[in-house]
Amino acid sequence: MKESASNGVTIRKMEESDVAECLEIKYQYFGHFWGDPNDPSTKQTHDNYSKKKLDLSVSLIAELDGKIVGGYFLKKTKLPMYPGNFYDFTGDDTGVEGVSLFVHPDHKGKGVGHMLKHYYKENRRPDIKFIWGQAFHGLKNMGDWLKTRKLFNDMNGVYFTIEMYDESDWAKYPRTPYLDIYEETGSSAADHIEEMSKSGKTTEEMSEYLMDKAKISREEAAYFLSMIL
Ligand SMILES: CC(C)(COP(=O)(O)OP(=O)(O)OC[C@H]1O[C@@H](n2cnc3c(N)ncnc32)[C@H](O)[C@@H]1OP(=O)(O)O)[C@@H](O)C(=O)NCCC(=O)NCCS
Repeated sequence: MKESASNGVTIRKMEESDVAECLEIKYQYFGHFWGDPNDPSTKQTHDNYSKKKLDLSVSLIAELDGKIVGGYFLKKTKLPMYPGNFYDFTGDDTGVEGVSLFVHPDHKGKGVGHMLKHYYKENRRPDIKFIWGQAFHGLKNMGDWLKTRKLFNDMNGVYFTIEMYDESDWAKYPRTPYLDIYEETGSSAADHIEEMSKSGKTTEEMSEYLMDKAKISREEAAYFLSMIL
């Protein structure tokens, strides 16, 4: 793995022995999402979930003078296939999911986050063609992600964004009618279906909606509904 260095900071692959320290830093920012941050069981839940999403073959550490100053939990994935994606991600390309990006409070604002965020764009691998991730609406950080990524879904209060490292790869992934629905109404087909279901609409009515608006077949609509409901 190549290293990058700027302002003395080095990016390297994360090792098993780095994980506990990374979890400590990450917990300061994300612990409260899991419950009372002062309750040890909250830390346990956070750590267990984070480790499940951690893939050491691609995750990264930022180091300064031999000390960890940040990290990026990443996971190798295929193209993200969610119901109602705004682009047709049929294809065999692989990339990474950005699971959690964090910089130690003493080292924020010095370009460390930037180095981690864009590492695989600047140190290209043929098996990493894109990076994608999920962000709760409540984080209010879409301005940050959409600098380089595109929104490809939005459901249950979570935004889904993706960056193709080769801009030309977008030619392989055309927009779908689900993006028209989103642009016209401001909410995704998945969220519409949730609403319809909550208000007591029948399966037939929901299928009709999808067939009409998303221009899909009855079979595809049935599959969509089976994934959402
Ligand atoms: C977000 C964070 C990693 C930025 O790192 P940093 O070293 O302080 O900032 P840098 O100056 O190097 O990097 C700035 C980059 O981070 C982005 N950024 C800043 N705040 C952000 C946020 N809340 N969410 C996502 N990205 C953010 C900036 O847009 C910029 O992106 P660019 O490099 O594409 O231009 C750091 O502030 C942090 O650990 N925050 C707490 C945890 C967090 O919010 N993580 C991201 C959400 S999962």
